[in-house]
Amino acid sequence: MPLHRIHLLATGGTIAGTAASPAQTTGYAAATLPVDLLCSAVPGLGDVAHLSTEQVAAIDSKDADPAFWQRLAGAAQAALDDHHVDGIVISHGTDTLEETAFYLHLVLKSAKPVVMVGAMRPATSLSADGPLNLLNAVRVAAAHDAAGRGVLVVMNQTIFGARDVAKTNCVRADAFAAPDTGPMGLVLDARVVWLARPQRAHGPATPFDAQTPLAPVDVLVAYAGMPARMVEAVVQGGARGVVLAGAGNGSVSVAMHAALREARQAGVAVVRASRTGSGYVMPGGGCDDVADGFCTADTLSPYKARILAMLALGAGCRLEDLQGVFETF
Ligand code: SIN
Repeated sequence: MPLHRIHLLATGGTIAGTAASPAQTTGYAAATLPVDLLCSAVPGLGDVAHLSTEQVAAIDSKDADPAFWQRLAGAAQAALDDHHVDGIVISHGTDTLEETAFYLHLVLKSAKPVVMVGAMRPATSLSADGPLNLLNAVRVAAAHDAAGRGVLVVMNQTIFGARDVAKTNCVRADAFAAPDTGPMGLVLDARVVWLARPQRAHGPATPFDAQTPLAPVDVLVAYAGMPARMVEAVVQGGARGVVLAGAGNGSVSVAMHAALREARQAGVAVVRASRTGSGYVMPGGGCDDVADGFCTADTLSPYKARILAMLALGAGCRLEDLQGVFETF
């Protein structure tokens, strides 16, 4: 059987990071190694797939922004449309990997495998995790049954779906989890084991693509005594939507309720998500969502709810229809 042709798009991150000594796993410089050096650190990569490479960016993913997402989506879509390419791998910093993954999951129009990968330790570290993560990402992209699953994330021998994955630890090598759904699969040496499929519509079934404008939407994280001026600041700053990462069930304090209702009446979308890191946000939470015109984020994290709202509002979705978008994707 001929090897699959996998295109690797590199964007930076710790997987391409270097430190002063092999014992150093923090305080290093991210995004310093070019893509070809990443590949040369992985023995046997050429036996898994025919790999082509492209350096799309060299950033620390804390600096990722909507312009970066769109540029990356354009490069990824071009590779997916190339009939010489069977699947793609994207190397990326772990800090905002879940946001880029969900954006791409919503906009890329292809059933070909798309696998994102990063590392928690820099390339110069003892026990660097990047080389095995990269080998495993290519193995997944080249797997015969990886197509049609949307954007996948491979870290620490585990495959996650883009909609549900989150970075849940800031230092450990097993930093990623899908708190509500669990992993989508495992990579154990050459064996790719599937455990689940995406439950929601994605890429080819969405009305979004890499050209869809992204409306400005902000996230506010609730805390005890949060003042209403936080909402006012976001609205005055030009946001077309605000996602409240509320306490517990995305709950809205009395002080915030009035400010959010006012924002909604002024035409700003209001989405209630939860700051807890998992769970399905139920209607209620200190307000009457229907009467107030608020949406709930379903099981999306506040940061992913923001991306879906940015795309939906950018694509012209009416505020009345936004809840349906959260139930669909
Ligand atoms: C980054 O997100 O670019 C730096 C941190 C990491 O990749 O783990």
